[in-house]
Amino acid sequence: MKKFLTIAVAALLFVPNYSSAKEGMWIPFLLGQLNESEMQAMGMQMTAEDIYSVNQSSLKDAIVHFGGFCTGEVISSQGLVLTNHHCGYGAIQSHSSVENNYLEDGFWAMERSDEKPNPDLFVTFIKEIQDVTVRALYGIEEGMTEAERTKMIDENIEKIIAEEEEKSEYDVMVRTFFKGNQFFLFFTETFKDVRLVGAPPSSIGKYGADTDNWMWPRHTGDFSLFRIYADENNQPAEYSETNVPFRPNHHLPISLGDVNPGDFTMIFGFPGSTDEYVPSRVIEGIIEEVNPLGISFRERSLAAMDKYMRAEKAVKIKYASKYARISNSYKKWIGMVKGLKFSQAVAEKELYEEAFMQRVSTNRRFPASYKTILDSYKAIYDEYLVYQLARQAFIEAGIVNVELLDYARAWNRFVAMAESTEDEAKLQSAFESLVAGMEGFYKDFDVRVDRDVYAAVMPYYESRIEMNLRADNIPGDPMDSEASMSEIDKLYGKTYLRSLESMQSLTSKGWEKTYKKLKKDPMLALASDMMDSYREEILPMYRTFNTKIDSLDRLYMQAQMNVFSERTFYPDANSTLRVSYGQVEGFYPRDGVMYNHYTTLDGVIEKYEPGDYEFDLPERLLDLYAEQDYGRYANGAGEMPVCFIASNHTSGGNSGSPAIDANGNLIGLNFDRVWEGTMSDYNFDERLCRNIMVDIRYVLFIVDKFAGAGHLVNEMTLVLPEPTIDRDAPQQEVMPEEGPVD
Ligand code: ARG
Ligand code: GLU
Repeated sequence: MKKFLTIAVAALLFVPNYSSAKEGMWIPFLLGQLNESEMQAMGMQMTAEDIYSVNQSSLKDAIVHFGGFCTGEVISSQGLVLTNHHCGYGAIQSHSSVENNYLEDGFWAMERSDEKPNPDLFVTFIKEIQDVTVRALYGIEEGMTEAERTKMIDENIEKIIAEEEEKSEYDVMVRTFFKGNQFFLFFTETFKDVRLVGAPPSSIGKYGADTDNWMWPRHTGDFSLFRIYADENNQPAEYSETNVPFRPNHHLPISLGDVNPGDFTMIFGFPGSTDEYVPSRVIEGIIEEVNPLGISFRERSLAAMDKYMRAEKAVKIKYASKYARISNSYKKWIGMVKGLKFSQAVAEKELYEEAFMQRVSTNRRFPASYKTILDSYKAIYDEYLVYQLARQAFIEAGIVNVELLDYARAWNRFVAMAESTEDEAKLQSAFESLVAGMEGFYKDFDVRVDRDVYAAVMPYYESRIEMNLRADNIPGDPMDSEASMSEIDKLYGKTYLRSLESMQSLTSKGWEKTYKKLKKDPMLALASDMMDSYREEILPMYRTFNTKIDSLDRLYMQAQMNVFSERTFYPDANSTLRVSYGQVEGFYPRDGVMYNHYTTLDGVIEKYEPGDYEFDLPERLLDLYAEQDYGRYANGAGEMPVCFIASNHTSGGNSGSPAIDANGNLIGLNFDRVWEGTMSDYNFDERLCRNIMVDIRYVLFIVDKFAGAGHLVNEMTLVLPEPTIDRDAPQQEVMPEEGPVD
C-alpha cells in the first residue's frame, strides 16, 4: 500500500473529501439514479431494478429488519431466515435451561413441529419507499423557531401517515434523512410468528467471544436460523399452531463458488446510526473526551468483573453476557479513537472545512448563513460538551455499570408511585411484577462483584463530574481508598437490594411494608439523588444545546450538499434499509502487516484451547477437521473457508445482513467490522475499513455436516458459478444431495 500522505502534502493536493466508490450506505429506491453505473463498473451483473423494485420481485423482498435491531434474509421458498447468532441470542437463551442448554449445545429443529415460537420477536419487510419531502415540509418558512418547525413537520407527517394508511394494506412510517432535510415514506409488512429453527453451540456461534470481537483474523460461525410463519393466505398473523411457513416473493440463492479478492460484494440491511457530516470539532471531542470517558468507566468495571470471572466458574457464567455487552462498545470506542487518529480524521475534516469556507465566501450564490455555521458550532460546542459528558457519566455510572443503582431505579419508580397514587390495585400489580422479576435479576448477580464495580466506578464518577452536576453524597471517597471501601461496604451491607434472600423476606410482608422500608434504603436514596441531579442540572441544558446543534446540523448538511454539489451524498444511517457495495479485499492495518481476505478452519483449530470459555470447541468439529470432511463446502483449494472481509460500509444493525455477489447470490453473512476501521461511523477510509462476514459455505457445513440438519440445506437454492474465474459464466443449479423434505 502507498504510505498515507502526510498532512502537509495532502493539503497541497487537497480536493474535498469526495466519497470513495466504496463509501456509502445508499437508499435502495435511488440506486438506479445514483449508483447503478458505478456498481456495474465494479463488476455487478445486476440492474438497480433487480435489487429494488415495486413492480417485480427483487432482492429487497428477501431482506428483513430482524427484531428491529438486526438484519436477516430469507433463504428458502419456505420462509427460512438467516441471521447472526448474536442477533438470535436472546431467543436462543429464552429456550435454554440447565437440561436443554441450547446456548452451550446448539439447537436444531429436525422437524417443523420442533421449531420454537418467540413471542417478542418480529421481522419487517420493506414493501416500498417514497420521497415525501415536499409534503413533510409543507408550510415551513424561513425564520420559524425550531419548536414551530418541529411541530409543523410532526403534524404534516401525521397527516401523511393517516392518508397513506387509508389507501394501503401495509403499515406506514416516515423517517427523516440528511438531518431533517429530506423525508421518506416506508410501506412495511411485519410478521410476528417467527420461530427458532437452528443455532450452533456458542463455541462455534460465538467462538473467540470478547477477545476476538471487532478483530481480524476472525473464526466465528456467527449465525442462527429462524422461520417466518403466516396464516393460510400467506398474510402476517399472531402465533398460531395452524400458521404455515411463509412463502416469500424472493429468497436469496446461495453460491458455493469461491470468494476471490476483487469480487464485487454488496451488503443489504439496516445500519443503525452514523455521523459522517459533523465538523472537525465534533471528531476532536470524540477522540479527546467522549470516547475516553466511556472507555475509562468501562475499563474499571470490566477489570472488577474479570477478577471474579477468572477465579470462579459460577461468576464467569453469570457475568458472561453482561461482560460481553459492556465490552462490545468499550472495545469499539478504543478502535474508533485509534482509527480516527490513524486516518487523520480531524485534519481531513479541517481541510474539508477550509474548502467549504473558500467556496462559501467566494460564491455569492450561497446564503450568508452558510458563512457562520462553523463558527456557530465552535461557539456552543465546548459548553454543550460539558453537559454531554455529564450525561454520559451519569449513564455509565448509574445505569450501565453499577447494577444495583440501575435496579434501584426500578424500585424507586414503585416507591414514587406509592407516594403519588391511591390506586391500590395499580400499586399491587406494579409490586407483583417487580417481585416476579426478582429471581431473574439475582440469578445473574453477585453482590461482591457489583460492590467492586461500584468501588471502581463511583469514586471516578465523583472525581470527573463537577459537583453541581451530580448527587452530593456519594458513598466512596475518591481521595482515600481505604475510607472509601468502608463506606461502600456499609452501603452494600445495609441495602435490602444486596441479595435475593433479603428482598424476598422484605417483599413477603406485602407492598406497603416494602414501600416504607425501601423509602429509607440507602441504595435507592443514592439512585434517586443521582436521577434528580440528572433531571434538574443536566437534562434541561443538554436539551437546549441539543436543539441548537440539531438545527446547525440541518443547515450544515444542506450547505454541504449545495456547496459540493458535484459530490453524491448518502444520508447517515438511521435504521432504514440501505445498500453498501465494495469488493472482497484484505488490507494493511499497520506498517509491515498485511491481512489476508479470508480465514479457514485451520485457523479455528490453531486458536483452540480446551476448556477455555472463549476458545473451546465441540468434539464433533474436531473430528470433522481430523477427517477433512468438508464435502461440497470446501473451497477450490480444498480448505474449509470460515470468514472473509470486504470494503463495504456497514455499521451496528448490519449484523445478519447478507453479503451478496455480483449476480444476486448469497455468499456470506455480515457480523462485524475490523477494529482498525470502526471509525467508519464518522470517517470511512477505504484503506482501513472492512466488514467481516461468515463465509456461507461454513454456515452450510455446520448445518449439514456438523449438525446433521441437511434437510434445511435441501430447502435452499444452491448455485455453483463455474468456472469461478470466469464471472460471466452462466450459473448452474446444484441439485440437493437428497430430495427436498416436503
Ligand atoms: N461486534 C459485533 C457487534 O457489534 C458482535 C457483538 C457480539 N458480542 C460480543 N461481545 N462478542 O454487534
Ligand atoms: N456486530 C454489529 C451488530 O450487531 C455489527 C458490527 C458493526 O457495528 O459493524 O450490528
